[in-house]
Amino acid sequence: MRFIFLSIFLSTVFVTFECSKVIELKCNPNFDVQSIVNLPYRCINGLSCFFEEIHVDESTSLVLNFDEANYGLDCVGFVNSTISKLPSNLFNKYKAVNSLYASGIDLLQLPSNTFENASNILDMNLSWNKLTKLEEKVFTPCSNLRKLVLNHNEIEEIDVDAFDKLYQLEELDISNNKLSLIPHKALAQLERLRTLNLSNNSFIVRYGQFPNSLVTLDLSYNKLENFTLKSIISLTKLKYLHLNGNRIFRFRQHIFPDGILDVLKSLKHIQLSDNEFYCTTLADIFIFMEKYKVTIDVVPHLIILNSSNIHGVGCREESRYLL
Ligand SMILES: *[C@@H]1O[C@H](CO)[C@@H](O)[C@H](O)[C@H]1NC(C)=O
Ligand SMILES: *[C@@H]1O[C@H](CO)[C@@H](O)[C@H](O)[C@H]1NC(C)=O
Ligand SMILES: *[C@@H]1O[C@H](CO)[C@@H](O)[C@H](O)[C@H]1NC(C)=O
Ligand SMILES: *[C@@H]1O[C@H](CO)[C@@H](O)[C@H](O)[C@H]1NC(C)=O
Ligand SMILES: *[C@@H]1O[C@H](CO)[C@@H](O)[C@H](O)[C@H]1NC(C)=O
Ligand SMILES: *[C@@H]1O[C@H](CO)[C@@H](O)[C@H](O)[C@H]1NC(C)=O
Ligand SMILES: *[C@@H]1O[C@H](CO)[C@@H](O)[C@H](O)[C@H]1NC(C)=O
Repeated sequence: MRFIFLSIFLSTVFVTFECSKVIELKCNPNFDVQSIVNLPYRCINGLSCFFEEIHVDESTSLVLNFDEANYGLDCVGFVNSTISKLPSNLFNKYKAVNSLYASGIDLLQLPSNTFENASNILDMNLSWNKLTKLEEKVFTPCSNLRKLVLNHNEIEEIDVDAFDKLYQLEELDISNNKLSLIPHKALAQLERLRTLNLSNNSFIVRYGQFPNSLVTLDLSYNKLENFTLKSIISLTKLKYLHLNGNRIFRFRQHIFPDGILDVLKSLKHIQLSDNEFYCTTLADIFIFMEKYKVTIDVVPHLIILNSSNIHGVGCREESRYLL
């Protein structure tokens, strides 16, 4: 089916090429950026331009018209649109762009040359799309990238070199995807990474997988069962660890072995709600944490008071002797 509905700002030119369509488009420099929540500061206060109401199927290629007036844009975005791929020459036209907002537009793929000319980009919001794979070196040209948001996609595979040379990256959100294994080097090389969100995947934690620079690690809702802090022993700067929403139940000694908090010496806040702890195990954990002044945080909606719990963290009464 070749269905195209298009009504965009200014001019639109349709060109038909063999069997695929090419559409040239322009963005709206007067788009009301206040209508989007949580846009970066530079989109609100800098020069921005947004593409609106572009709905095309996979067989259509999008290219930008040359528009000298927009050459120095700080921020470019897409709203109320359905496009499977970003326009091929987006960053060729808008080289100076610092922020890309492309959330919720049904992106299916990011070909490996997508960001070839995006060397000035500082943050990208690619959340709520349908991406399944991050290609080899796809983000590598973005050598200044600080923040990359990829939550709520369907990412199953991350190439070992997808994040190659992102030495400035501080924040990576790949929560709500379908990740189980990520090649070691992919994350470990991100030497400035401070916040990593892997919440709600099926992630399997392996030794040496995370960069030592991490301050916040969110591993909530990953079906983790046998997790032990030994597997993140190198994270000496880690301060916040989210382990809620998993299936953790083993002995305190397995999860938090003696001495581990002498090594993970920055760790101050842990979330453990919504696991499968026996209450005696959870009590052991509280006793152990007390000595190290680590706080077991509970987010308000996870506080349990109407059934067995310790300080609002739910647990199961032991049914077996010696647990
Ligand atoms: C990304 O965009 C979504 C949708 O507009 C928004 O809810 C979210 O807060 C944004 N994330 C960041 C980190 O800016
Ligand atoms: C998208 O379109 C709807 C309906 O036309 C409108 O109410 C909404 O404000 C638009 N969203 C943005 C971000 O422009
Ligand atoms: C990047 O810029 C070069 C030089 O202008 C150009 O040849 C190339 O096609 C551009 N790549 C993309 C993906 O736009
Ligand atoms: C991680 O992402 C989830 C869902 O996208 C969000 O609820 C959670 O607050 C994030 N964690 C951190 C530490 O920001
Ligand atoms: C996790 O993702 C599934 C869809 O894959 C969703 O239904 C569920 O609400 C998410 N859970 C959390 C805690 O975000
Ligand atoms: C946890 O360990 C048990 C026993 O070794 C094993 O059967 C189970 O598959 C493991 N669970 C996960 C999620 O790896
Ligand atoms: C306890 O309260 C929560 C919400 O406050 C509710 O979802 C749950 O069903 C209650 N459990 C029991 C055993 O009453």
